[in-house]
Amino acid sequence: MSDPSYAAFYRHSVESPEAFWAEQAQGIAWQRPWGQVLDRSNPPFAAWFVGGLTNLCHNAVDRHLADRAEQAALVYVSTETGQERTYSYADLHREVQIMAASLQSLGVSQGDRVLIYMPMIPEAVFAMLACVRLGAVHSVVFGGFASVSLAARIDDARPKVIVSADAGSRGGKVMPYKPLLDDALRLSQHPPAQVIVVDRGLADWARQPGRDESYGDLRARHALAKVPCVWVESTHPSYILYTSGTTGKPKGVQRDTGGYAVALHLSMRVIYGGKPGETFFCTSDIGWVVGHSYIVYAPLLTGMTTILFEGTPVRPDAAVFWRVAQQYRVNLLFSAPTAMRVLRRHDPALLQRHDLSALRAIFLAGEPLDEPTGRWVAESLGKPVVDNYWQTETGWPILATPQGFADVASRPGSPGVSMPGYKVCLRNETDGAPVAAGEKGVVAMDWPLPPGCLQTIWGDDARFVQTYWSTYPNRQVYSTFDWGRQDADGYLYILGRTDDVINVAGHRLGTREIEESISAHPAVAEVAVVGVQDALKGQAAWAFVVLRPGQIDAAAAQQASIAAHVDAQLGAVARPQRICLVTALPKTRSGKMLRRAIQAICEGRDPGDLTTLEDPLALQQIPDAIARP
Ligand code: PRX
Repeated sequence: MSDPSYAAFYRHSVESPEAFWAEQAQGIAWQRPWGQVLDRSNPPFAAWFVGGLTNLCHNAVDRHLADRAEQAALVYVSTETGQERTYSYADLHREVQIMAASLQSLGVSQGDRVLIYMPMIPEAVFAMLACVRLGAVHSVVFGGFASVSLAARIDDARPKVIVSADAGSRGGKVMPYKPLLDDALRLSQHPPAQVIVVDRGLADWARQPGRDESYGDLRARHALAKVPCVWVESTHPSYILYTSGTTGKPKGVQRDTGGYAVALHLSMRVIYGGKPGETFFCTSDIGWVVGHSYIVYAPLLTGMTTILFEGTPVRPDAAVFWRVAQQYRVNLLFSAPTAMRVLRRHDPALLQRHDLSALRAIFLAGEPLDEPTGRWVAESLGKPVVDNYWQTETGWPILATPQGFADVASRPGSPGVSMPGYKVCLRNETDGAPVAAGEKGVVAMDWPLPPGCLQTIWGDDARFVQTYWSTYPNRQVYSTFDWGRQDADGYLYILGRTDDVINVAGHRLGTREIEESISAHPAVAEVAVVGVQDALKGQAAWAFVVLRPGQIDAAAAQQASIAAHVDAQLGAVARPQRICLVTALPKTRSGKMLRRAIQAICEGRDPGDLTTLEDPLALQQIPDAIARP
């Protein structure tokens, strides 16, 4: 790379953002150039490349046909069904057009929402790309979520069509999707008129005539379809992705088109060091932001080969990632710390068995990377391990050690330094004043955020402003809701969340959502859910439940029934690891639940100042409840 040093590159990005991002935008194809790089007229909103017309699918697929039509674009590996298929860019172009024509035949056009509730199969990627091809807005819902979570997302996004499948498969067990979707559609206030079902032949499903279409039928009907890209404004929304926060209602993070394309394209080169023609293997799920950005968009925008993996890290054995890496000559691997902690529990020889000569680095994100795990991966594989810190909201890393530059070394325990365009500053929780080096503060960013970050919350500009930009009145500052510390050289260390969001195996969950679900169980009077440190998953959710009078006798049955209730409503991903019964919950005299004190006791820490506690006996019950099996 000809850029002099990362420090100079970064300085340019924050001192002259318009000039910097205009240069970076050259990496993307525009049907019409933008008139204004950044519209600063309405903070905290920021509009990038205003007036420009582009299309994400054109940039991810069509654009590469001239140079790399026969190169692999998408490699599908399923250790669940044993299928492996490679789609060239030409194949991908064909498949995306068939999906786009299918959506069009059901009435989907620019601006319509399409909800994608699918396992990790190529059709999920086709559907995402088909949506952005048409200027439709996709909303992918993680397949691990169940009917109530799904219904809430349907009612917020109001999709015209839902694309789903008969079933997924996990650890060899078929997980039917269609019955959960049918339940969600029954619960929904605004169900779409049409559903497309990709029939994998894994589970029988009931077809509702007039509503449900089999993708096999549509595909046959549109096999030769030619569907041009719809050029959209740079600021046109490309997708909505729901994420958890402090309240029980998930937020629809809304992403633009042009800014996202430019930012992801930069990120692949500068942060990940990926080049056209290389192979990127991201083990996440398309239902999460990492899957959106680094399974689908960034590798394809760059002209790389991307691997879509359906399976777990330990099946058929704990070497499966490395087997895939060898077979497909993977250059860059992106996974999560939990996956590495899982592998660490298996035979270390499994890491030595394969030829990983093509592999340059392992990227880990989504949750704190503990030093022993990071060191173990680096030493066992003899490859650099690159931590990177970001959020659904930002869409791409805030902190990392940029692999496109040789002059930033990694530091153990730190995800790294600020990435281009992010003006990261640690601030005092109460008045927002910057804290000194070495002191703990809230990880915050000054306006404007760089391209690619959320535009707003879908349908709720006021909530966007209120949630992210109002922590410090009179300052245009975005709060990440993470605690951090920064050393004198600018390396940041992440110290946990400032809110009630927990992180279970890299999955971001709101304790309030879980509490609301448990509260809806007929036997439950009251509940508190906290995140408790877990050696494997980072954190685990523990629920403390007060049963209604008369329910106490059947305690064990109630615990099982509450777990099943959460599974059915939210999905197994949100099921608390422990459900402990108590007769009262610790609260302040003003009625505020002392979740932090409960959490501290669960983790064997001092619960801190308890002078405001209403009923000290309530807190004393917590250790007893934990001690019961
Ligand atoms: O708390 C931080 C944690 O995960 C949150 C964001 O989760 P999500 O929206 O699912 O996006 C994940 C994108 C990678 C953050 O607010 N987090 C994410 N990465 C790291 C992390 N905590 C510590 N170190 C990281 N590398």
